[in-house]
Amino acid sequence: MDVGGASPRTRSPHAPPAAEATNTEPMDALVIQGGRALVGRVQISGAKNAALPVMAATLLAPGLHTLRNVPRLADTSTMARVLEQLGARVEMRGSTWTIDTSNVQSVEAPYDLVRTMRASIYVLGPLLARFGAARVSLPGGCAWGPRPVNLHLDGLNALNAGLEIDHGYIVGRDVRLKGATIDFDVVSVGATGNLLMAAVLAEGTTVLDNVALEPDITALAQVLVQCGAHIDGVGTRRLMIHGVKNLAPIEATIIPDRIEGATFLAAAAITHGSITLEHCEPAHMGAVFEVLEQAGSTVLPADREASISGPRRPGALDVTTAPFPGFPTDMQAQVMALLSIADGTSVLTDTVYLDRFTHVPELQRLGADIRLEGNRAIVKGVPALQGAPVMATDIRASAALVLAALSAEGETRISRIYHLDRGYEAFDQKLAKLGAQIQRVQE
Ligand code: EPZ
Repeated sequence: MDVGGASPRTRSPHAPPAAEATNTEPMDALVIQGGRALVGRVQISGAKNAALPVMAATLLAPGLHTLRNVPRLADTSTMARVLEQLGARVEMRGSTWTIDTSNVQSVEAPYDLVRTMRASIYVLGPLLARFGAARVSLPGGCAWGPRPVNLHLDGLNALNAGLEIDHGYIVGRDVRLKGATIDFDVVSVGATGNLLMAAVLAEGTTVLDNVALEPDITALAQVLVQCGAHIDGVGTRRLMIHGVKNLAPIEATIIPDRIEGATFLAAAAITHGSITLEHCEPAHMGAVFEVLEQAGSTVLPADREASISGPRRPGALDVTTAPFPGFPTDMQAQVMALLSIADGTSVLTDTVYLDRFTHVPELQRLGADIRLEGNRAIVKGVPALQGAPVMATDIRASAALVLAALSAEGETRISRIYHLDRGYEAFDQKLAKLGAQIQRVQE
């Protein structure tokens, strides 16, 4: 398998919008008139963070894979480009995507794609497992700081990958993965997914301890089992994987996006609205229901649905993020927006990313009273926010600014919303259908 040379760049016929707009492409902005309660029903899309690893897992078996309920996002389109760069063929028919990995002839994931979306590193484990080789760019940092990948690299080396770092690339050559016991000192969604996909084709048995329980990863394990992998302990912190020779192609439906759903619930809570989520999975959202109820909302989960009625004014409360089933760090920014108009002072602590606060200065521009102390934000509720021009910095920070704008008095213009398009499918259209006065404009 050619590790050095990249395959000729295969531009897919459906070249998607680049996740990171370059300075030559028009950057979209959102213009929002605040003060309207959200009312109605909204369909939740497939989960971005579940779709990305399953798309990478198609590299584990040659053949035609079928994924349903795939969200059409910049990030899933970027992952499609990474797979096409490797020689796969991706066809998108609405939310049903077919991926043919029969003719993968490269093992290189180039820097320009990996820096666009860090989750491209998910192809590392499958490439090593199926081809015994890989040349994947180190992903680098993100909007709010360093995002190390040591757990991925140390774990794969424990499986005998013998990885080297060569001019910013992670390189593996003539690799025969062998089972081992790996104990994660930090719960890591990405490292759990990467090691799981490597171990299913490794020789012998692999034990992964202290794994992530995020539904995205449990769903990945279930998909791999359906394709013939031997994995014991799915849904627990300890997985035992007995390597097999090969797997069957994937036929899977992507689980609903619990973070998109939670974001809409918070949007109803901040606008004193009343909405129902359709096609969601309430079992994945317990910690968020609890926080929103403590902040004064009434939440009614049902079968694949969840309804919420927001309070006239949210109550203050302290929130600390934690790995699943704890309160998700991916909802920290959105709940900060909600608590910025609460009746009282709240303390928001992020124990997963100690510096995930790029949304704070932008919320302050809208009149929020927030003080940062290390990985804690002290949020003193104000009676109302005021609309102003602000800038999005990452996926969830952008969502937080939208929520704040929906509640603020007057007009808010949010620039650089390509960040939003990375993780939310048709977010502005879905909000408009719920009664928001929101418009997408070109900068
Ligand atoms: C996944 O990122 C999600 N991304 C993130 O969502 C999410 O915020 C994060 O999990 C935590 O839930 C995808 O699933 C594509 P981690 P990931 O490895 O896998 C440290 C969004 O908005 N760590 O679970 O990169 C790390 O610094 C995105 O959709 C190491 O130290 O997160 C962090 O403190 C943003 N070494 C903690 O572990 C490593 O090798 C958890 O990170 C890996 C991680």
